[in-house]
Amino acid sequence: MLQNALTRQGAALSTPNSHPAGFTVPSPGCAKRIMMAADRPLAPGTRVGAFEIEEARSEGGFAIVYRARRVATGEPVALKVLRPHLAATRSMAQRFAREAAALQRLKHPHIVRYVGAGALAGGQPYIAMEWLEGRDLGVELERRGPLGLAEAVAVLTDLCSALAAAHALGIIHRDLKAANVMTVPRHDWFDVRLCDFGIAKQRDGEGMSAGSSSAIMGTPLNMAPEQILGGRIDARTDVYALGLLAHQLVTGRLPFDASNPAEIEDLHLNAPPPRASAVAPVPPAFDALVARCLRKAAGERFADVKAFMAAASALLAPASEIAATHVRVEVQVRGTGDAVDDAAFDQADAALEVVRACCAAAGAELVVDSGLVVMASVRDADEARALAARLERALEEARRSAQLLVQVTVELASP
Ligand SMILES: Nc1ncnc2c1ncn2[C@@H]1O[C@H](COP(=O)(O)OP(=O)(O)OP(=O)(O)O)[C@@H](O)[C@H]1O
Ligand SMILES: [Mg+2]
Repeated sequence: MLQNALTRQGAALSTPNSHPAGFTVPSPGCAKRIMMAADRPLAPGTRVGAFEIEEARSEGGFAIVYRARRVATGEPVALKVLRPHLAATRSMAQRFAREAAALQRLKHPHIVRYVGAGALAGGQPYIAMEWLEGRDLGVELERRGPLGLAEAVAVLTDLCSALAAAHALGIIHRDLKAANVMTVPRHDWFDVRLCDFGIAKQRDGEGMSAGSSSAIMGTPLNMAPEQILGGRIDARTDVYALGLLAHQLVTGRLPFDASNPAEIEDLHLNAPPPRASAVAPVPPAFDALVARCLRKAAGERFADVKAFMAAASALLAPASEIAATHVRVEVQVRGTGDAVDDAAFDQADAALEVVRACCAAAGAELVVDSGLVVMASVRDADEARALAARLERALEEARRSAQLLVQVTVELASP
């Protein structure tokens, strides 16, 4: 059923005049007419379909976002209108249609809600979305300053659930960054909504390549190595972006920054990530979490956003909340500088593999396997102690490594 829906969607997307959101992708002949439209914001009061423009809110390179109202009901909406000179470009119009199609399918409390779509008389396509009265997460961070660990994990949790919903439909966002997350004030905190599926892609079959059907797209500061290199894009590309954002949330800065795009690309491709704990009050396990997202090879990152989320939540879980008896193993990478060493992560991976094998041999069920922490559930304290002793022996070599900090703990159920 879902597969059928995806196939139909894919077919619609590649057929010029049948975009699901009612777009018409221009034929070469109509380009000139659209080019003649002035590339300046629409004036307040302009009618756009069922809506009336109130004011331009944001003028991006590709689109202008307006606050508008549905004339019949007064409902406020955000209208994102493709710039006229780009509306004449078939690839851009298709990209915009993909954004509308993705949003139309995504109904999630942390994703901006789709209201409708259409085209101006001159041919420029627009997308109507719920109006979010707030500011983007980048501006929010500048105003508040870096977030605490629990606050950052709360934001990441909501964004992960949004991304998981998109990934479940085969939609990869590809441009997750603070500027594409809107915050809506709530008491003294805020809710988040993931926006701008402008370069999102529908995965077909085995995945997709960054450069296969379009120019390589993204924002240099936030591009994963495979986006820079035109490699295969999948959910782990969004996991990389989550790692960048996680670091930014607690430090106020992106991990890889430089004065020009080529240098930034080089950092993404070759540099070890800096440690957030060197400048922010977060534990080394947070560095490990980010570093795992930022592995250059997608295969070495968290396999999906849920695995990332489990690891992030494990950073907060107090032992007292544990209702059953567990053996918990945490493997942290130590480091002397302010960067994380890739080889140390390979050692950590090997150690966690040993832990999994031991637990499997003992018949203990893994309740957490986050890539940093493995937690196995056992029947009682005796079993826990036996498994812990076995793990201590098996992890002797890892314990000797100067680069690793290995902790085996027994957590007994509260009586
Ligand atoms: N639903 C909305 N409600 C209120 N403001 C919005 C909404 N959507 C977007 N905006 C405002 O417009 C800005 C730009 O939106 P968006 O990121 O979708 O477009 P863009 O970056 O210009 O697009 P693209 O990258 O596709 O060119 C946001 O940072 C926000 O300030
Ligand atoms: Mg944007």
